[in-house]
Amino acid sequence: MVAMKAKKSTSSVLKTKGVVKRAPPSPKIRIGVLVGKDFDPVKKGTQWPEYPEKYNLTNDDWGKYSVDVATALKMKQLHPDLLEIDIIPGKEIKEHRLKKNHLNLNFWYDVGVAIMSGKGKGHIDDVMKCHKNPECRLDPSWDYYDWVLCKPRYMEQCRKAGIPMIPTVVYTDGFDPKQCLKDVQKKGWDKFFCKVGQFSFFGEGAINGKTADFLGPRFKDLEAYGRANKSSKTFLLQPYTLKPNGEVFDEVRNFFIDGQWRYSIFTHGTDGSDAGFYQEPDGPRKVACKALAERAYQEVLKTASWQGKRQTPLLNRIDIGVIPRKGGDSLHKTDNTYFVNEIELIMTTWLDRYAPISVQDVMAQAAVKHSLELLAGLLKSKTKVPDRDKVKKVVEALNTRLGPFKHIKV
Ligand SMILES: Nc1ncnc2c1ncn2[C@@H]1O[C@H](COP(=O)(O)OP(=O)(O)OP(=O)(O)O)[C@@H](O)[C@H]1O
Ligand SMILES: [Mg+2]
Repeated sequence: MVAMKAKKSTSSVLKTKGVVKRAPPSPKIRIGVLVGKDFDPVKKGTQWPEYPEKYNLTNDDWGKYSVDVATALKMKQLHPDLLEIDIIPGKEIKEHRLKKNHLNLNFWYDVGVAIMSGKGKGHIDDVMKCHKNPECRLDPSWDYYDWVLCKPRYMEQCRKAGIPMIPTVVYTDGFDPKQCLKDVQKKGWDKFFCKVGQFSFFGEGAINGKTADFLGPRFKDLEAYGRANKSSKTFLLQPYTLKPNGEVFDEVRNFFIDGQWRYSIFTHGTDGSDAGFYQEPDGPRKVACKALAERAYQEVLKTASWQGKRQTPLLNRIDIGVIPRKGGDSLHKTDNTYFVNEIELIMTTWLDRYAPISVQDVMAQAAVKHSLELLAGLLKSKTKVPDRDKVKKVVEALNTRLGPFKHIKV
């Protein structure tokens, strides 16, 4: 609101000696935001009142107002004199659209989403090009994106850092059912779980069962699995990891925004109903999960970069697997087993509906600061920056307004 008032007074018409002068319009920079979450709504009733209908991706009442668009709408309101926000839904992702913006932030729509969308190879190629072409100035940039998305890359780094994870055999050149069974027997796993290790999510491309069954009647299922996933190269083979009561392990999802742990959400391994999702309550499980997630996050911070320079990511989610010593309930227990199951990029479910903070508000503020860091980095680099002088002016103005931050030099 303050910014809106300030804008009005500076652009007001100045009258001196009968001459009418208009103050030059303040320069603005354009930030693209890639969206498309139709399953990750804000808390009911907390969306901005003017939420354009075209961004309602579902008619389900609970999921109409996606947190990615809600965040972009909030960003629009924060510094309207300096920033223009270009909301880009999946089907509009094209190199030329992204290149027109000074910077683009991806909140959801990545290559994995394009693959799942069923819109075909042309669309997947379009999205892939935007990720790989530095002139699209898309965050996250390729190398860091690939480090997280290609799971064996970060898993190996975490393993070397002594972070507990499920033991894993990695295949990088496709899936061979015979090799899989050989490896499972060598490891002595009586049940196993195999999943695609890149561009996969929502548990797509996974198979599990008893080793004895796959050695016998279910061998054909393993062959069919190989055929169904023949376009994938990377696979992770693991013991089928269950709680003592026979259910799949639970997960506590830890969210980090702009370098800080902010909240964690419990999700039950098998109960998909509302009872299976809740804000992680205070207690030993929350503390242990946070501590382990912080260790994995240090590896993220060591590795994450943008356009070749070190950069703290805007958001990460680190999923900690939890197994109680007895039964199925791990809440308030001090003898649970914990491991890192997955590191997620910003293009993940933010789960605002269970969070103790307004994720759209926090993310909008953080995204502006993050954009400032990225733009200041661009200006320092030798990269061609469109409207360099204009960008510099806006970066200076924004840094003065928000900070000025010591780590941002213009
Ligand atoms: N080794 C395992 N044993 C048993 N269950 C597993 C194992 N690995 C993964 N799962 C189950 O499959 C789910 C999906 O696996 P994971 O999270 O590793 O990959 P993903 O496909 O990226 O999933 P998502 O996008 O849903 O997080 C897990 O949340 C867990 O319930
Ligand atoms: Mg997962």
